[in-house]
Amino acid sequence: MVENQAILRFAGATKRFGDFVAVDHVDFEVHNKEIVSIIGENGAGKSTFCKMLTGVYSIDDGEMYFEGKRVHYRNTTESMKAGISMVYQERNLVGMLTGAQNIVLGHEPGKRFISERQAYERAVEIRDKLRLTIPLDVPVEELGAGEQQLIEIMRAFYNDPKVLILDEPTASLGEGEVEPFLDFVKNVRNTMDIAIIFISHKIEELFAVSDRIAVLTDGRNMLTDHVENLTQIQVITAMLRTGKSYGRVPVAEKDFSALPVILDVEKAFYDGREHELNFQVHKGEVVGFYGLVGSGRTECAEMLFGLRKAEKSYTFNGSTITRCNTRSMIERGMIMTPEKRANGMFKALSLVDNICNLFLKSGLSGRGAGVVKRAKSKEFADRILSDNDVKYNFPGQAISSLSGGNIQKIIIGRSIAIENITLLILDEPTNGIDVGAKFEIYQKVRQLTDTKEEQKRIGVLFISSEIDELLNVCDKIYVFSDGNIIQGFERSHFNKQDILSVAVRGKRIDG
Ligand SMILES: Nc1ncnc2c1ncn2[C@@H]1O[C@H](COP(=O)(O)OP(=O)(O)O)[C@@H](O)[C@H]1O
Ligand SMILES: [Mg+2]
Repeated sequence: MVENQAILRFAGATKRFGDFVAVDHVDFEVHNKEIVSIIGENGAGKSTFCKMLTGVYSIDDGEMYFEGKRVHYRNTTESMKAGISMVYQERNLVGMLTGAQNIVLGHEPGKRFISERQAYERAVEIRDKLRLTIPLDVPVEELGAGEQQLIEIMRAFYNDPKVLILDEPTASLGEGEVEPFLDFVKNVRNTMDIAIIFISHKIEELFAVSDRIAVLTDGRNMLTDHVENLTQIQVITAMLRTGKSYGRVPVAEKDFSALPVILDVEKAFYDGREHELNFQVHKGEVVGFYGLVGSGRTECAEMLFGLRKAEKSYTFNGSTITRCNTRSMIERGMIMTPEKRANGMFKALSLVDNICNLFLKSGLSGRGAGVVKRAKSKEFADRILSDNDVKYNFPGQAISSLSGGNIQKIIIGRSIAIENITLLILDEPTNGIDVGAKFEIYQKVRQLTDTKEEQKRIGVLFISSEIDELLNVCDKIYVFSDGNIIQGFERSHFNKQDILSVAVRGKRIDG
């Protein structure tokens, strides 16, 4: 074998979901005793790319080589046998089983039964090799997040992998747990024959742990280099989403000072610290929240909507809100759609059931039993589907059979159908949908704020990491950095360079 041959290499990796290209001709390689990090915004395609390596997803285009040989894995059993192990972003442990039981879970060869003692011995062997000290004989639900993470990693070592993929391994760790974990990963790289692919969106972390860094942006590989050749600003700049071309929506400049203020926020205390926010939303206004991943946009919205514990005092529709939960906020006229569409729907249920599940307490539900009244709900669902131009076959089909864009239209459509909604918060509503569907979402949003029926106009808070779409659709953009709003820009002062610069540097721009 050539000394410097990559252990794993992918040329032109491409993965599509319908019309949407999640991974777009990515070239990538990793060598033995090397940590390569993949960084990118949410939805950049990091997890999808790695799932192509392990055979979870089929490959639409591109050639993959393992130890110099062209390979094609149809499932994780095949990739694992070859020596590629992945610790997925989603936790994958059975809480009531012990660490040892979880480690052997799914690895027992079909015919042979592994005794409790054998399982324990095998797990201890892995633990010793990794120089860890976690107890393996207690149910994993009794362990902390960091320890659970390490149990998953031990499981990934069951087959002595040559390539280890860690998908956002630090996302679930507490503050004090990250550094020891990074030291552990480096130690594995130093002491074992292994190549490590490390996914994260936290830049400091990557500079601390990586030999090389690869940046993915909208499915494309924008930059790959050795860490000593890179600066943080270079990496952040490569992560910025430049946006793909889409139709412009017309936005008239309005005098908002004359319009009623729906939401007025100054500061709030959550996640253990104070956040300077200082922003307003008027009736008929689309307000954008821009910032890099981790800048605190979603956290702020969750605080407003009662999804995040906070000490706060802000004004919504004339009332001072200090305590709230999502139910009380919906009653007051606020609704938020989640960043991950999957969290806003029941995959296996029909369009009708998904449209009506927000309304179980309203007139659409059967008294007491909570059963949705069929005829009435069908009629209501039909209206939502047609009002929002959803493309579907029949209302009883499972929602998961629709494209991402059409699912998003349903999620937005049913949210604004709630009585008296005055503020709609959209968290990354266009992630993972094709440009045509994106444009329809922009039109819908503008229609909600600009409708001629003045009493029906609402305010929209639009969270996005795609600057071009915010410049397209918003009346005002607030830029987040490190949990605070650093600066606001009105449409007449929109300037892409200024806004990007505030987001990247976390400092106001004057003038
Ligand atoms: N199974 C799927 N079906 C349709 N779209 C998907 C699927 N998995 C991921 N996507 C979309 O592909 C894009 C990339 O997702 P992902 O790889 O999870 O991003 P990352 O891990 O970088 O946050 C996202 O826009 C996501 O919505
Ligand atoms: Mg991911």
